[in-house]
Amino acid sequence: MKQLFKALMMHSAIGAWLGKLPFLKGLYLRHVWAGRMDLFYGLFGSYAEAERFSANIGKVGWHDDTLAELLVRDAEVEAPTLFQTSQFAVMLWLSKLLQPGSTVVDFGGAGGIFYELCERYGLLKPPLSWHVVDMPDMVERGRQRHARLGSTMISFGSELAEAPAPDIMLMLGMIQYLPDPFGEQGPGILDTVPALPEHILINKIPISDAPDAWTAQNHVSSVIPCRLFNRAKFLAYFEARGYRLQDRWLVPELQAEIPFHPERTLTYFEGFYLRRQA
Ligand SMILES: C[S@@+](CC[C@H](N)C(=O)[O-])C[C@H]1O[C@@H](n2cnc3c(N)ncnc32)[C@H](O)[C@@H]1O
Repeated sequence: MKQLFKALMMHSAIGAWLGKLPFLKGLYLRHVWAGRMDLFYGLFGSYAEAERFSANIGKVGWHDDTLAELLVRDAEVEAPTLFQTSQFAVMLWLSKLLQPGSTVVDFGGAGGIFYELCERYGLLKPPLSWHVVDMPDMVERGRQRHARLGSTMISFGSELAEAPAPDIMLMLGMIQYLPDPFGEQGPGILDTVPALPEHILINKIPISDAPDAWTAQNHVSSVIPCRLFNRAKFLAYFEARGYRLQDRWLVPELQAEIPFHPERTLTYFEGFYLRRQA
């Protein structure tokens, strides 16, 4: 039944037609969508528009202790045994790029979960500095968790501008949530980071050749605007700052399925390695 609903709403022209019936959208929002995890809803022309919609549902954004508890998993000490397959692509590149003394800035690194995965696979050897930048609730829980774990190479902060200058910057499943990643209204990511890193690894972003658009994604206690990137615009931002695309991979474990908008369905997300030319 669930599969049939998905197929109709998100993968067939019938979904777009049903979207013209306001009562059906209302029913879906109230009875299927609200309070769930990781479902998308709506298509908007800007972050601000998606944010206004989200505010009508409830709390907006990642600054939320319930989410921090979910993501940082302070109850169990071991990192999750199962994790997203595409993170292996990031680990492969990291295994080639990390040098003794490297500084990694993990923007949107939550409670340091990816640091734990890299440790599990033996990638992290001192001297190394790994700095997570995330929202204050995540950072607080991350600090406590890693103090308990006795992690020696990780630090946390909530401002990208105050992070150490990175050799390698990670943005894993996060830039789609930023209000203005490319500095279209103010400073963008690369205007804020203290120094331009040589290597940037981006994973788990919704991207395609369609124009930029925004949707709303529910995260149990909060609703979060999420950007669906236009590929040319995304690459142009980094290329204008001296970066060249080195590698790109598919993220089959993540999809964007937006009810009533089958035309914007993405059957996979993507990941990228960009390197700054000397
Ligand atoms: C989907 S989680 C990804 C977590 C982790 N990087 C991973 O791959 O599993 C998105 C993360 O981005 C963080 N985030 C969102 N907006 C942010 C911002 N403006 N500054 C810092 N972190 C942010 C969230 O708090 C959350 O931890």
